[in-house]
Amino acid sequence: MNLPTLLEKTKQLFIRKFSTPCSGIASCPGRINILGEHTDYTGGLSIPAAINRWTLVAYGPAKRNKITFWSENFQDFYSPDLSNNNGPGKSWQKFLHATLKCLLLEFPLNKKKGVNLLIYGTVPLGKGLSSSASLELALLHALNSHFQLKLQDQEMVNLAKKIENDYLKVPSGFLDQYACQYSKTHKINKIDFENLTIESSEIEPLEGMVWVCIDSGIKRRLAASEYSTRVDQCFEFLKLVSSQFPSVKTFRDVESAHLDSIKDLTLKRRARHMLSENRRTQHGFHALIDGDWLELGRLLNKSHASLSQDYEVSCQELDFLQSTAVTHGACLGSRMMGGGFGGCTLNLVKAEIGTNFATDVTERYYKHCGIKADYYVLQMVEGARTHK
Ligand code: GLA
Repeated sequence: MNLPTLLEKTKQLFIRKFSTPCSGIASCPGRINILGEHTDYTGGLSIPAAINRWTLVAYGPAKRNKITFWSENFQDFYSPDLSNNNGPGKSWQKFLHATLKCLLLEFPLNKKKGVNLLIYGTVPLGKGLSSSASLELALLHALNSHFQLKLQDQEMVNLAKKIENDYLKVPSGFLDQYACQYSKTHKINKIDFENLTIESSEIEPLEGMVWVCIDSGIKRRLAASEYSTRVDQCFEFLKLVSSQFPSVKTFRDVESAHLDSIKDLTLKRRARHMLSENRRTQHGFHALIDGDWLELGRLLNKSHASLSQDYEVSCQELDFLQSTAVTHGACLGSRMMGGGFGGCTLNLVKAEIGTNFATDVTERYYKHCGIKADYYVLQMVEGARTHK
């Protein structure tokens, strides 16, 4: 469904649920990450893009002084009790509770003004396409507008990261929030997480190529604990290197030669991924601008090898999907995407045989792993905003 159709549908759903029109709708897309995986929390580089899957939050005044959510996807109401520090039991409600808690700490809401909110989304949940950042940012935009908080986009981006880090206890970087907020339809953003700057360049719509995500169907089971371990290992590595080379103050001061002095092979491999992935991202940015799809595909494949072998965040199913994809004539490159341990692969595919590619790979995946995989053919879109 495209955005105008989704907006219209959400508008109608709101009227049906709350018997009054909404005053506005906030939308926030999910994202893919083309290159630069597991680089954000070490101040590295990434080139993500927002995708044509959205979370929408329609909002309108409530008669009673109360916050009420209706989730169209979960077919359930939720009225948060913010005095309860443990939060709600259901996982979709946890995101809403955490967002409200985090926002309220810094920006008191007008207590006399209740709000009804209807949430409807098409971002696949828990597949590494940033469904959580998309929900948090859409909700922040909706509350910002309803309560006239006058928050800037960057303030909402900062809050959304804080929700993940401080409330949901995921030590993630800024990748998802920057991608979901700042992406543009005809531009590619290279984000530098050391100084939080964006280099933006016009690109032609992918001539003859499409991005296809194939969902391994594997729940990102180890994601939370292993993600934290990777973050810790990177900081342990930095501590070691800077104790030997005082000129090394940040990850970006690290050079390949510094790795020679590190005896711990695991830390060495983690650092090798960090360095090589930043280089690939730099090259990939130019390949995208030049429309050099062959080079971009090659970089995707290299990124997968590095994530699988050096960073060890892949799994058998993702490795199978990747190696199967690249044997298909339509695919120029493929890699696991997002935090890893399940979720999706990202594939750069010749458009005219894109669907044929996806059905072929998913059939072979079913035969080999016994899992029926979904796939999504994606387009690049604009980041989060509010529609009146
Ligand atoms: C998750 C995190 C991001 C980023 C990616 C890996 O999506 O939320 O901050 O670290 O994993 O690139």
